[in-house]
Amino acid sequence: MKPIIDPYGSELIADYQKLITDFGLEPFPANAFPNPNRLMRRNIIFAGRGLDAIAKAIREHKPYYVLTGIMPTAEKIHLGTKMVIEQVKYYQDHGAETYVLVADLEAAAAREVTLDEAKNRALAFHIPAYIALGLNPKKTTFYFQSENKQVMHLAYEFSHKITLNEFRAVYGNADPARILSALTQAGDILYPQLAKRMPGIIPTGPDQDPHLRLARDIVRRSRDRKFIMPSSSYHKFMPALNGAMKMSKSHPESYVELPEEASSIKKKINRALTGGRDTLEEHKRLGAAIEKDMVFELLKFHLIEDDQELQRIHGSYKAGTMASGEIKRIAIERLTAFMADFEKKLDAARKLVDRLGFVRFT
Ligand code: TRP
Repeated sequence: MKPIIDPYGSELIADYQKLITDFGLEPFPANAFPNPNRLMRRNIIFAGRGLDAIAKAIREHKPYYVLTGIMPTAEKIHLGTKMVIEQVKYYQDHGAETYVLVADLEAAAAREVTLDEAKNRALAFHIPAYIALGLNPKKTTFYFQSENKQVMHLAYEFSHKITLNEFRAVYGNADPARILSALTQAGDILYPQLAKRMPGIIPTGPDQDPHLRLARDIVRRSRDRKFIMPSSSYHKFMPALNGAMKMSKSHPESYVELPEEASSIKKKINRALTGGRDTLEEHKRLGAAIEKDMVFELLKFHLIEDDQELQRIHGSYKAGTMASGEIKRIAIERLTAFMADFEKKLDAARKLVDRLGFVRFT
């Protein structure tokens, strides 16, 4: 997969446009969806595959599903995960059957985490975090890959639907751990259709598109199964706070984690790259270079729900009547409030985990 170059958000829509063309994606038709959420309205969800089928299922109140996977390797999640969960929640709120799986097999194969570690971490943190971000636990089916025999059976069945060369063409490389993980993931993506033949959507980042292409190829080659082609939607990446294109685990100061302490939020935002000018006089004369402003991106992606409010801030900042210190103050205030709320909900969700409706297969 080619890297996606989007350090400056909206200015580089041309690159997302290129991604759409290069990968043969559909632009996301926000208007086809009822009450599009913040991410859809702002074109942060910018593309996907098979989206008409999903919009139609929502409009006609037909069954469909939304599915996502937890990769239980990291100790914490970040704002990118939050975007995916907001999408899952949107579909859940619009009638989708919701599936959340813990990719413990993939974690063991590809990331050298034992199944037990992966499981415990998911129970102690990731699942409660997803609930804290808004998923309704009563309406969500959770499962562990390692316990889901049907998913494993699908993975085996799919293993002869693709050649090594095709795999290489899709993924760029083909080591055994990747092959197993990808086939298992295809099993996850299609698993809900074993119970009910219905369309389904996988909201994710465009870096995951190879998995969707694989699953769709497998559907084409498994006629007897009569699967419906799975759909997907892709979000833009929020640039790192220092303006770097890719979030980097070795630079934790450059992205916001969940949870994160107030003092650390403040520090990170205060150090972030902004579009403020060198002197106040210059700032007033030229206005902010918003396209370089990571704090504004944070407001746009995550912190300001109301479009008009965002528009007002954009206007004053660009006109130079609002200074970058003010933008930072707003971001710190909102993010701190969000985080306090998240932690409260996380605590509550942790108490719930024992009572969740896990699908168990033993
Ligand atoms: N590969 C995904 C990740 O790295 C996890 C995953 C496994 C997944 N199965 C899935 C994601 C099915 C979406 C759908 O995060």
